[in-house]
Order: sequence, then C-alpha cells, then structure tokens
Amino acid sequence: MKNRTNIKTTNPQAIRMTTATNVNLPKPPPLPEPESAPAETMNAMLTNALMHAVRNGVKDSRAQSALNRLLPKLESFWEVENVSQQEADEIQLRIVQHWDDLFGYLLHLYGDQWDFFYHLEQILLTIIRGWRMRPEQLKQDDEHRINNPEWYQSEKLVGGALYVDLFSENLGELRKQIPYFQDLGLSYLHLMPLFAVRPGNNDGGYAISNYRSVDPRVGTIDDLRLLADDLREAGILLVLDFVFNHTADDHYWAQQAQSGNEEYQKYYFIFPDREVPDQYERTLREIFPTVRRGNFTWHDGMQQWVWTTFNSFQWDLNYRNPEVFRAMLSEMLFIANTGVDLLRLDAVAFIWKQMGTNCENLPEAHTLIRAFNSCVRIAAPGLVFKSEAIVHPDDVVRYISHKECQTSYNPTLMALMWESLATRDTKLLRRSLARRHKLPERTTWVNYLRCHDDIGWTFDDADAAAVGIDAFGHRQFLNAFYTGQFEGSFARGVPFQHNPDNGDMRISGTLASLAGLEQAIESDRDDWKELAIRRILLLNAMMLSVGGIPLVYLGEEWGALNDYDFVKDPAKAGDTRWVHRPKMQWKFLEELGDDGSIRGRIYRSIRKLIAIRKMTPAFGGLDMELLVLESPHLLGYVRQHEGNRVIVIANFCEHAQEIDSNRLRTAGMGRFFEDLYSGQTITTSHPLTLGPYEFMWLHRV
Ligand code: GLC
Ligand code: GLC
Repeated sequence: MKNRTNIKTTNPQAIRMTTATNVNLPKPPPLPEPESAPAETMNAMLTNALMHAVRNGVKDSRAQSALNRLLPKLESFWEVENVSQQEADEIQLRIVQHWDDLFGYLLHLYGDQWDFFYHLEQILLTIIRGWRMRPEQLKQDDEHRINNPEWYQSEKLVGGALYVDLFSENLGELRKQIPYFQDLGLSYLHLMPLFAVRPGNNDGGYAISNYRSVDPRVGTIDDLRLLADDLREAGILLVLDFVFNHTADDHYWAQQAQSGNEEYQKYYFIFPDREVPDQYERTLREIFPTVRRGNFTWHDGMQQWVWTTFNSFQWDLNYRNPEVFRAMLSEMLFIANTGVDLLRLDAVAFIWKQMGTNCENLPEAHTLIRAFNSCVRIAAPGLVFKSEAIVHPDDVVRYISHKECQTSYNPTLMALMWESLATRDTKLLRRSLARRHKLPERTTWVNYLRCHDDIGWTFDDADAAAVGIDAFGHRQFLNAFYTGQFEGSFARGVPFQHNPDNGDMRISGTLASLAGLEQAIESDRDDWKELAIRRILLLNAMMLSVGGIPLVYLGEEWGALNDYDFVKDPAKAGDTRWVHRPKMQWKFLEELGDDGSIRGRIYRSIRKLIAIRKMTPAFGGLDMELLVLESPHLLGYVRQHEGNRVIVIANFCEHAQEIDSNRLRTAGMGRFFEDLYSGQTITTSHPLTLGPYEFMWLHRV
C-alpha cells in the first residue's frame, strides 16, 4: 500500500547519498522507464531509499517520473552549496511528501506549455534556494510547527495591525514599542506593507517597487530582521503582506516592460488597443471607480493599455506566465525568511483572469494559491497564509483550507456586527453565524472590527431575504446610517468609492467614530459617550470570543477618532480610507492609566478582555453554538474547546433585555456562573437582565 506515513518514518540516514562517489559517476543513462526499470539504471545518482520514498510517496505516475528526473539534478546544488547529506535527505523527503500536490497544481496551471518541464525544474530550484537561505532559528520553528499543526488555533493568539511610519516613524523606534504590545496582550503583529514603494501615491504601501528592500523612510531589511528577532523573543508573531496581484509601475519588471523588453511585457497584461480590454470590460466590476473608470490604464510611454484592477499605477501580474509564478515565489520566500510567521495574501480574488468572466475568484486562483502553499510546505513549513478575500461569503470560504489559506479575514462577520449595531437586531448576524462560522479542520478565522480598508456590505442576499431583509434597500440604509445621514444615527463614517452608476458605496471610519464616540464628544453628551464606549466594548467582546484570531487595528484599543487632516496630503486626499489611518498620538498613552479618561477606560477594558481571552481555553478553536434567546436584540452562543465551556451573551441595543435563565442553565450545565469580565456571580434561579449594550462571558462555578 502506498502510504505517506512510510516516508515520515524513513530514517534519513538510510537514504544517504554519497556525494563523494557521485562526483565520479558517469552521466545517468537517458530517459529511463520510471516504473519498471530497475533502480540502478533508472537513475544512478538516486539511492534506493530515496527512490523507494518516491515510489511510495508520490501517487501520480507522471509526478513520479518528473521527480525521478529532477532529483538527480539537485546533486550539483547540494555540492556547490555545501549542503550536508543529512540536510539534503531531509529536504528531499519533504519534496517527496508534497510533490503530488505541487506537481498536480502546476500541471493544471501550466501543463499545456511546451516548456513545462523547464519551468517545473526552475520552480523546484527556487524552492530549494529559499529553503537554503532560511535562517536556522526559523528552521527550528518549522520543525516545531510541523509537529503542532494547529498552533494558530490557540486562544493565546491576539493580533494587532499598524503602519510602521504612522505608529512609530520607523522600524528602530517600533522595536522600542514592544512593551506596549505586551502590555496590551498582543501575540501577533501585522505590519502594513513596508517595502519600497513608488514615489507619491502608493496606496498605503500596496504599490511595491521592490519586495526585497524596505521603504528607506522606515528602515532597512536588516532593521526588519532585528525587529523580527525581538518580536520572537517577546513571543509575538510577525505578519507581513504578500502583495502578489500587482506590482507598482516602477518595479524593475514594469520598467523593463516600459522600455520595450518583451520578456517582461509578458509579466503583465499589455494590449496595443482597446479591442481585447473592451471584451474583458463587458464582464468586469470596477474596484476603484472614483480613481478611474474601467480596469485598464493607457500608458503614454509604451503607447499601450495595461491591466490595472486597483489604482492606475498598480499593474496586475499575469500568472498565466509560469515565469511570473516562479519570480513571485522567489520574492515570497525572501519575505518569509526575514522571519514572518503569517503571510497576508493580498487581493487573492483577482489573481487569475479569464475572458468572459468577472475575473474574480476563478478556480485557477485557488490552484495558484495552493501551488504557493505547497512550495511553502517544503521551503518554509512554519509559515501560514491569511487570505484577504473581501467578497461574497460563499467565495470567502473557498480560499480556506490547510492546503490553501489556513486563515482568512472574516469580512462577513465584521460587516454583520456593524449591521446589528445599526439595526439593534441580531437576526442576520445569527443566520450567518449559524451557517458560516464553521470551517474545515486545521483552519481558522481572523476576526476584526476595523482594518486599514473600508467596510463593504458583502453579506449574502439570500441570507438577508431568509430573515425578511431586502438586501439592496438594506445596503442603502447601512450606508446612510454609517455616514450619519440616517435620522438618529450615532455614526460618523465617510463614503468610500461611491459608484454613481450602480449606487454602490463602502464606508470609511474608525471603530470609535462609527460606534458613536465622535458624535458624543462633539455634542458633549455624557450619556452618549457612555453608550458609545459600551458599543466599542461589546464589539470587542464578540471579536475576542466568537472563535478565531482577533485582530485589533491599533488605535482602536483606546478609541482613536477619525482624522480628517488626510486631505492636506495630496497623495492621500483622494482616498477616504486615510480618515481611519491616523498617526499614533503618543501623548494619549499618558492618559491610559487615568480613571477619568475615556481613552484610558477603553484601553484598560480591552486589555482586560484580551487577558481573559488568553486565559480561557474555551476560546481556543472555532466550536461555537448559538443559543436561542427570545429578544431579537440579543446574541448568545456557547464556546467549547477541549472540554471547557463559556457562554457569551450580548445585548445589541440601548435598552435592557431580559434572558430566561433556564436557557443558560441547560446550555451551560450549571446553576451558578461567574461573568469572567465583571467577576459577578449569576444564578439561574431568576431571570437575568442585560443592561444597554452589556455582554457577559459566563463560566460555570
Ligand atoms: C487590498 C488592500 C487594499 C489595497 C488593495 C490593492 O485590498 O487591503 O488596501 O488597496 O488590496 O492592493
Ligand atoms: C479589494 C477588496 C475590497 C477592498 C479593496 C480596497 O478590492 O476586495 O473589498 O475594499 O480592495 O478598498
């Protein structure tokens, strides 16, 4: 029986290949018969043990024969690179283990190209080089994680995200802020894109001109490595972006393309006239309609059209060209080797184009990510992917698999928490949680309230219809509510990418401004301030308990308000997302210990919630079961993990709500509970009242 476990248990020593003798061996005979030929004639350089591993570990016969031809070619690499026999054995076993997957994905994407085998070899060499450059410490972490494949499902993980320049000027200064992250309880830090960017507008770092150098304004690649070391020492994971759908227009490849180099023109989608772009346009959506209509940009220098899904200076890469896959793989492994634990795959929905489709979420996009994933399993197996697919919930979930992206932003939950806050009704949120929270094994959500991007109302129309909501009208209501147009709204958001043709709009704004704090402070109403603070904590309590990795966009933890000054910077003025990317005000931190300060209260409350989450095993994993509660304003669920259990109840409205305690008794299997947050004891002998926007994390006592 062909069994993968055979490979794992093979003693690496047993497949030792003696380089010394190999040097003198004659060239292997050409074109051996893979399955039937005896080992020696098949390939003189492969030891019997390795061949045995290939035979037993690689199921597809085409994959097997390709590997039998490729492995001997690595010999000269081991030699030139001075790779010890044991190391070579180990990595070759890993190749064998993941070869069926990798070969299958690449065959699917590129098998029809006449020079497929050449590209396969180049991709394998790129993997090996990436592995070879990987620092020893990271290789040790790799081993550890291979043996603990569910490490990212732990309740101990709590994330924060920031822009280095806005938070602390540069990487050196950021290293000094590690105590702040520790005080808050973070164990995961996402640095927004910090690589070299084009001059002027760079889309918040998402227009990268060089993946191997850091923006000189924030530091150097060595500063990044030092920070990664310090973070690891402090028990904080490092998260960076892999912006792989597009490069900036001044990336070396784009520059070569502009100067007429045809090899590099094939890296992008470049057209001499409107004929083909117009055909594509018929079925495409517009992502940044206020930037430029359509998805193509005329380039004066080349006198050609370029595919630019986002800003006109962000050129979409053409992954139909296997050389683009290989080149980006090389950039990815370089980034991984700086010490990244989790890689955020940016704009995954757009990476494959097919005429006649909307060029979003195509099957090949998944195959492509899976191919990257299997390369990583070989070269940097400690690294985990995070999918950024801000699309329909059915499409979001398709990126989530331990073979694709092990973690994913949860945009539906994010949007529906805001939806419930506006309507004071949790029915749509409950419907979505009931059907969409569960994920495949060895994967998890990244839950967030705000991020550097806008809020889009990406919930499913049928989910809405099922609970009596008309999706189109509801989105218009939500946009009106969160821009403060709706009578009685507490929110102070601003529109993003309003498309006059179809009425689409998304929302920008900070957590605190959207939750009512800006309006309350402006109106100087203490009662409104109280409600706003409670809304902020309510949403945080959900994000931290519902299941998945919570991710705080830094500034949220003390209630940062919108910053309207972005309009003064011409490179930012046209993009309202900058309203919720304020510069860190360090002077505010002095207030954080102060009892009378709003910021202090928010900070200390969130810090406390984080600390409790990390001490509560029931918050690990994803197991979540909704409670049936009478009031439409309430949300309740039971979290369970490894025999531990916590009941979460939350009131999404400004009026007190009563809960039938009998429900708690049966769900929590007990008569007395402690609210982990307030410390108060709850008895189920009489009804429980939740105050305005109150929540409880109930643990049986
Ligand atoms: C992602 C980023 C967003 C950026 C876009 C283009 O959606 O989150 O900020 O504008 O990709 O890179
Ligand atoms: C990507 C995301 C979209 C987001 C945008 C940046 O298109 O899919 O939801 O709004 O980038 O704003």
